[in-house]
Amino acid sequence: MQSPNPPAAVYSDTAVRQFAIMSVVWGVVGMLVGVVIASQLAWPQLNFGIPWLSYGRLRPLHTNAVIFAFGGCALMATSFHVVQRTCQVRLFAPALASFVFWGWQAVIVAAAISLPMGYTSGKEYAELEWPIDILIALVWVAYAIVFFGTIGTRKVKHIYVANWFYGAFIIAVALLHIVNSAAVPAGWMKSYSAYAGVQDAMVQWWYGHNAVGFFLTAGFLGMMYYYIPKQAGRPVYSYRLSIVHFWALIFTYMWAGPHHLHYTALPDWTQSIGMVFSLILLAPSWGGMINGIMTLSGAWHKLRTDPIIKFMFVAVSFYGMATFEGPMMSIKTVNALSHYTDWTIGHVHSGALGWVGLITMGSLYYLIPRLYNRTEMYSVKAIELHFWMSTVGIVLYIAAMWIAGVMQGLMWRSVNPDGTLAYTFVEGVKATYPYYVVRVIGGALYLAGMLVMAWNVVMTIGAGHSVRARIPAPQAAHA
Ligand code: HEM
Ligand code: HEM
Repeated sequence: MQSPNPPAAVYSDTAVRQFAIMSVVWGVVGMLVGVVIASQLAWPQLNFGIPWLSYGRLRPLHTNAVIFAFGGCALMATSFHVVQRTCQVRLFAPALASFVFWGWQAVIVAAAISLPMGYTSGKEYAELEWPIDILIALVWVAYAIVFFGTIGTRKVKHIYVANWFYGAFIIAVALLHIVNSAAVPAGWMKSYSAYAGVQDAMVQWWYGHNAVGFFLTAGFLGMMYYYIPKQAGRPVYSYRLSIVHFWALIFTYMWAGPHHLHYTALPDWTQSIGMVFSLILLAPSWGGMINGIMTLSGAWHKLRTDPIIKFMFVAVSFYGMATFEGPMMSIKTVNALSHYTDWTIGHVHSGALGWVGLITMGSLYYLIPRLYNRTEMYSVKAIELHFWMSTVGIVLYIAAMWIAGVMQGLMWRSVNPDGTLAYTFVEGVKATYPYYVVRVIGGALYLAGMLVMAWNVVMTIGAGHSVRARIPAPQAAHA
């Protein structure tokens, strides 16, 4: 990244463009489904009695669409972009990259059809049935060949840290997917897990937590380490810290899964290991967060004027918040209060909307004009508007869920002097109602911001004039 880039023509950016555009498209779709299910929780009759509009079917559609379609396409676009620039070489096997693009879209479409039809393996974030799982494995192997093939043919000796994060994400997701999806087919769209009972639960949450660690974190840290320095025009604050951050994070995440299974049939010592490793995770997570924030030192003034930097700064701040909250929730006594409540949903979305969403949007705003040889996005004011809509949307969403969650936990555990429950379950549901309405408002605002982005992208591409991408401000000596 430090050496000057060769002319753009040497790069192969077709797949980068396709994935970047589809990330915006699937972002709109996935968030729309999010708003629909949030509305159904407030007004259940909104399923209109139609099975494929029911909450149980649309919820996995939402999670799959936002994580694997919106997030996945953004990760593939940026990893293919970053690996070429930092290795100073053209994408390895562009035809295979094209297969990765079309194969991944086929997986998404298969999910969008099969989940509303009610086909599910019942494993969270791994609901898709076995024929789709096999397609995912094939696409993922092709993705790994293109990415690591590009690294293998690089023209610079050093492998830039963003590639380590992307590489770990690709290897870990392959491992997680193949192990967790092992199943015995019982028909074309029906299968039984290869594991039984508590082992099945443990494998599932080893997968589930590392989906958070590698899909929703490591790859996006790759984005952070490339696009923040680029947009800020500053080098990474501490390159040494970025390497320590990488190894500490990769090692620790793998062991934290049992915190999803506190107070279950899982052996107690396993739960405690999950809790201890989750607490340890705070250190590498915050090391990375501080490295991201401090990369802006010397460029703080840009926070006032550059809405893309605002997206990135707030994203990294939410990363810090979610990775402080997570270790706290993994403490067994805290989890006794938070588990089963909307506190978990608040935590999820401070990570998902705040970290994953905003770092993706910031990176795409940097990337898209450059992919289409434009100086900048069509409307910088619209980026600013999007920033405020999404930030206010997130605050409404997560504050509502935190209050609702703690309230639910306290209501469910409060008992009368004679030992009977102080509140019926339905009283808890009634008390939650206003917060569900606030979440709908926050979610709708976040979705509306995404629509502003989609409009801006269309206008940028259609602007009709080709100009050289804006060169970032010259790098001042690092303070
Ligand atoms: C407009 C924005 C969004 C809205 C309104 C929304 C709404 C919702 C709702 C209502 C649920 C179900 C909560 C429950 O079962 O009680 C949910 C779950 C979830 N959403 Fe979103 N969401 C949005 C965006 C996102 C994004 C961008 C991501 C990820 C990048 C995401 C990831 C998830 C995950 C992982 C879950 C499952 C949480 C769990 O099982 O604990 N959401 N969302
Ligand atoms: C140090 C980092 C983190 C730790 C230790 C951690 C810990 C936790 C804990 C204890 C839970 C609740 C488990 C339960 O009661 O069932 C949880 C849920 C969750 N967290 Fe985190 N978290 C971290 C960071 C993040 C980040 C950055 C994201 C998103 C980008 C995220 C996404 C999720 C999701 C999706 C769930 C819900 C899983 C489910 O039940 O479906 N976490 N996390």
